[in-house]
Amino acid sequence: MIEEFPYSQASENNKQAILDVFEQKLQGKSSVLEIGGGTGQHAVFFGEKFPNISWQSTDIADNITTLNLRINNADLKNVPLAFTLNADDPHWNTGKYDAIFTANTLHIMSSKSVEKLFAKLNEHLNVNGIVLAYGPFKYAGEFTTDSNASFDLWLKERNSNSGVRDFEKVDELAKNAGLNLLEDNSMPACNQLLVWTKPK
Ligand SMILES: C[S@@+](CC[C@H](N)C(=O)[O-])C[C@H]1O[C@@H](n2cnc3c(N)ncnc32)[C@H](O)[C@@H]1O
Repeated sequence: MIEEFPYSQASENNKQAILDVFEQKLQGKSSVLEIGGGTGQHAVFFGEKFPNISWQSTDIADNITTLNLRINNADLKNVPLAFTLNADDPHWNTGKYDAIFTANTLHIMSSKSVEKLFAKLNEHLNVNGIVLAYGPFKYAGEFTTDSNASFDLWLKERNSNSGVRDFEKVDELAKNAGLNLLEDNSMPACNQLLVWTKPK
Protein backbone atom coordinates (compact mmCIF):
# COMPACT_ATOMS: atom_id res chain seq x y z
CA MET A 1 0.00 0.00 0.00
CA ILE A 2 1.40 3.43 -0.89
CA GLU A 3 0.84 5.87 1.97
CA GLU A 4 -0.09 9.45 1.17
CA PHE A 5 1.80 10.76 4.20
CA PRO A 6 4.92 9.77 6.11
CA TYR A 7 3.97 6.55 7.85
CA SER A 8 5.19 4.55 10.84
CA GLN A 9 4.12 0.93 11.18
CA ALA A 10 5.10 1.01 14.87
CA SER A 11 2.78 3.93 15.47
CA GLU A 12 -0.03 2.09 13.74
CA ASN A 13 0.64 -1.05 15.76
CA ASN A 14 0.81 0.59 19.19
CA LYS A 15 -1.98 3.18 19.01
CA GLN A 16 -4.82 0.88 20.13
CA ALA A 17 -2.93 -0.42 23.18
CA ILE A 18 -1.95 3.15 24.12
CA LEU A 19 -5.58 4.21 23.68
CA ASP A 20 -6.67 1.57 26.19
CA VAL A 21 -4.47 3.26 28.84
CA PHE A 22 -5.40 6.78 27.72
CA GLU A 23 -9.11 6.03 28.13
CA GLN A 24 -8.48 5.92 31.88
CA LYS A 25 -5.57 8.27 32.28
CA LEU A 26 -6.89 11.13 30.10
CA GLN A 27 -10.32 11.18 31.73
CA GLY A 28 -11.11 14.76 32.72
CA LYS A 29 -8.04 16.15 30.95
CA SER A 30 -8.48 18.91 28.42
CA SER A 31 -5.04 19.50 26.92
CA VAL A 32 -2.13 17.36 25.79
CA LEU A 33 1.32 18.43 24.62
CA GLU A 34 2.95 15.78 22.42
CA ILE A 35 6.74 15.77 22.08
CA GLY A 36 8.30 14.24 18.96
CA GLY A 37 5.01 13.75 17.10
CA GLY A 38 6.75 12.13 14.10
CA THR A 39 4.30 11.23 11.35
CA GLY A 40 1.27 12.69 13.15
CA GLN A 41 -0.53 9.33 13.23
CA HIS A 42 -0.86 9.50 17.02
CA ALA A 43 -1.99 13.13 17.00
CA VAL A 44 -4.74 12.45 14.47
CA PHE A 45 -5.82 9.13 16.00
CA PHE A 46 -5.97 10.39 19.59
CA GLY A 47 -7.36 13.75 18.46
CA GLU A 48 -10.30 11.88 16.86
CA LYS A 49 -10.77 9.64 19.90
CA PHE A 50 -10.72 12.56 22.37
CA PRO A 51 -12.57 15.44 20.69
CA ASN A 52 -12.75 17.34 24.00
CA ILE A 53 -9.00 17.34 24.45
CA SER A 54 -6.86 19.90 22.68
CA TRP A 55 -4.00 17.84 21.25
CA GLN A 56 -0.92 19.96 20.55
CA SER A 57 1.75 18.04 18.73
CA THR A 58 5.34 19.24 18.30
CA ASP A 59 8.61 18.02 16.84
CA ILE A 60 12.11 19.20 16.00
CA ALA A 61 12.41 21.72 13.16
CA ASP A 62 13.51 19.10 10.58
CA ASN A 63 10.29 17.11 11.03
CA ILE A 64 7.68 19.79 11.49
CA THR A 65 6.67 20.09 7.81
CA THR A 66 6.02 16.37 7.39
CA LEU A 67 4.23 16.18 10.75
CA ASN A 68 1.90 18.97 9.70
CA LEU A 69 1.01 17.30 6.38
CA ARG A 70 -1.16 14.75 8.18
CA ILE A 71 -2.44 17.16 10.85
CA ASN A 72 -3.43 19.73 8.24
CA ASN A 73 -5.19 17.11 6.14
CA ALA A 74 -7.14 15.74 9.14
CA ASP A 75 -8.48 19.24 9.82
CA LEU A 76 -9.61 18.42 13.38
CA LYS A 77 -10.84 21.32 15.51
CA ASN A 78 -8.95 20.05 18.56
CA VAL A 79 -5.66 19.29 16.77
CA PRO A 80 -3.92 22.53 15.79
CA LEU A 81 -0.88 22.56 13.55
CA ALA A 82 2.23 21.33 15.31
CA PHE A 83 4.98 23.72 16.29
CA THR A 84 8.71 23.29 16.67
CA LEU A 85 9.90 22.05 20.04
CA ASN A 86 13.29 20.48 20.64
CA ALA A 87 13.95 18.82 24.00
CA ASP A 88 17.26 20.69 23.99
CA ASP A 89 15.52 24.07 23.91
CA PRO A 90 16.22 25.97 27.13
CA HIS A 91 12.80 27.65 26.86
CA TRP A 92 9.67 26.05 25.46
CA ASN A 93 7.59 28.67 23.81
CA THR A 94 4.31 27.33 25.13
CA GLY A 95 2.13 27.19 28.24
CA LYS A 96 0.92 24.49 30.62
CA TYR A 97 -0.96 21.33 29.75
CA ASP A 98 -2.95 18.67 31.60
CA ALA A 99 -0.78 15.94 30.08
CA ILE A 100 2.49 15.59 28.19
CA PHE A 101 2.86 12.57 25.92
CA THR A 102 5.91 11.26 24.14
CA ALA A 103 6.22 7.98 22.23
CA ASN A 104 9.36 6.27 21.00
CA THR A 105 11.50 9.36 21.44
CA LEU A 106 13.62 8.78 24.57
CA HIS A 107 15.73 6.11 22.84
CA ILE A 108 16.15 8.27 19.74
CA MET A 109 17.32 11.52 21.35
CA SER A 110 20.59 11.63 23.29
CA SER A 111 20.59 10.92 27.03
CA LYS A 112 21.54 14.58 27.52
CA SER A 113 18.38 15.58 25.62
CA VAL A 114 16.35 13.19 27.79
CA GLU A 115 17.72 14.99 30.86
CA LYS A 116 16.81 18.39 29.41
CA LEU A 117 13.36 17.16 28.46
CA PHE A 118 12.56 15.91 31.95
CA ALA A 119 13.90 19.09 33.51
CA LYS A 120 11.24 21.07 31.59
CA LEU A 121 8.20 18.86 32.16
CA ASN A 122 7.06 20.20 35.51
CA GLU A 123 7.06 23.80 34.29
CA HIS A 124 4.66 22.88 31.47
CA LEU A 125 2.26 20.73 33.46
CA ASN A 126 -0.82 21.87 35.34
CA VAL A 127 -1.22 20.62 38.91
CA ASN A 128 -2.39 16.98 38.81
CA GLY A 129 -1.03 16.86 35.28
CA ILE A 130 0.51 13.65 34.00
CA VAL A 131 3.44 12.63 31.82
CA LEU A 132 3.01 9.57 29.60
CA ALA A 133 6.15 8.11 28.03
CA TYR A 134 5.88 5.13 25.69
CA GLY A 135 8.78 2.99 24.51
CA PRO A 136 11.26 0.27 25.46
CA PHE A 137 13.23 0.49 28.73
CA LYS A 138 15.93 -1.51 30.51
CA TYR A 139 15.44 -2.56 34.15
CA ALA A 140 18.40 -3.02 36.54
CA GLY A 141 20.63 -2.62 33.48
CA GLU A 142 19.00 -5.55 31.66
CA PHE A 143 16.97 -5.55 28.48
CA THR A 144 13.51 -7.00 28.96
CA THR A 145 13.91 -9.14 25.82
CA ASP A 146 16.54 -10.17 23.27
CA SER A 147 14.67 -8.18 20.64
CA ASN A 148 15.13 -4.99 22.69
CA ALA A 149 18.86 -5.77 23.04
CA SER A 150 19.12 -6.13 19.23
CA PHE A 151 17.09 -2.95 18.80
CA ASP A 152 19.54 -1.10 21.07
CA LEU A 153 22.49 -2.25 18.92
CA TRP A 154 20.67 -1.22 15.76
CA LEU A 155 19.90 2.21 17.23
CA LYS A 156 23.54 2.76 18.25
CA GLU A 157 24.79 1.78 14.79
CA ARG A 158 22.61 4.51 13.33
CA ASN A 159 23.51 7.08 15.98
CA SER A 160 25.89 6.44 18.85
CA ASN A 161 23.89 8.87 21.04
CA SER A 162 20.70 6.81 20.74
CA GLY A 163 19.88 3.79 22.88
CA VAL A 164 17.25 2.12 25.03
CA ARG A 165 17.13 4.04 28.34
CA ASP A 166 17.27 2.70 31.88
CA PHE A 167 13.91 2.89 33.61
CA GLU A 168 15.58 3.77 36.93
CA LYS A 169 17.53 6.68 35.43
CA VAL A 170 14.49 8.09 33.69
CA ASP A 171 12.40 7.71 36.84
CA GLU A 172 15.11 9.53 38.78
CA LEU A 173 14.96 12.39 36.27
CA ALA A 174 11.21 12.49 36.78
CA LYS A 175 11.60 12.47 40.58
CA ASN A 176 14.14 15.30 40.39
CA ALA A 177 11.58 17.20 38.35
CA GLY A 178 9.01 16.78 41.14
CA LEU A 179 7.01 14.03 39.43
CA ASN A 180 5.80 10.81 41.06
CA LEU A 181 5.62 7.51 39.21
CA LEU A 182 1.98 6.47 39.01
CA GLU A 183 2.10 3.44 36.71
CA ASP A 184 4.44 1.31 34.67
CA ASN A 185 2.23 -0.39 32.10
CA SER A 186 3.63 -3.34 30.17
CA MET A 187 2.60 -2.96 26.55
CA PRO A 188 2.69 -5.25 23.50
CA ALA A 189 5.95 -5.66 21.57
CA CYS A 190 8.17 -5.35 24.67
CA ASN A 191 7.33 -1.71 25.37
CA GLN A 192 6.21 0.18 28.46
CA LEU A 193 3.88 3.10 29.00
CA LEU A 194 5.20 5.00 32.01
CA VAL A 195 2.93 7.46 33.77
CA TRP A 196 4.07 10.14 36.22
CA THR A 197 1.96 12.70 37.99
CA LYS A 198 2.60 16.21 39.21
CA PRO A 199 1.31 16.32 42.79
CA LYS A 200 -0.58 19.24 44.32
C1 LIG B 1 10.86 7.10 16.31
S1 LIG B 1 10.19 8.69 16.09
C2 LIG B 1 8.67 8.54 17.00
C3 LIG B 1 7.60 9.42 16.42
C4 LIG B 1 6.22 9.26 17.05
N1 LIG B 1 6.18 9.76 18.39
C5 LIG B 1 5.76 7.83 16.99
O1 LIG B 1 5.58 7.21 18.05
O2 LIG B 1 5.56 7.34 15.88
C6 LIG B 1 11.19 9.73 17.13
C7 LIG B 1 10.77 11.18 17.13
O3 LIG B 1 11.57 11.87 18.09
C8 LIG B 1 11.83 13.14 17.57
N2 LIG B 1 13.00 13.73 18.24
C9 LIG B 1 14.29 13.39 18.11
N3 LIG B 1 15.08 14.18 18.84
C10 LIG B 1 14.26 15.06 19.46
C11 LIG B 1 14.47 16.16 20.35
N4 LIG B 1 15.70 16.51 20.73
N5 LIG B 1 13.40 16.85 20.80
C12 LIG B 1 12.14 16.51 20.42
N6 LIG B 1 11.88 15.47 19.57
C13 LIG B 1 12.92 14.78 19.10
C14 LIG B 1 12.07 12.86 16.09
O4 LIG B 1 12.03 14.03 15.31
C15 LIG B 1 10.98 11.87 15.79
O5 LIG B 1 9.77 12.50 15.42
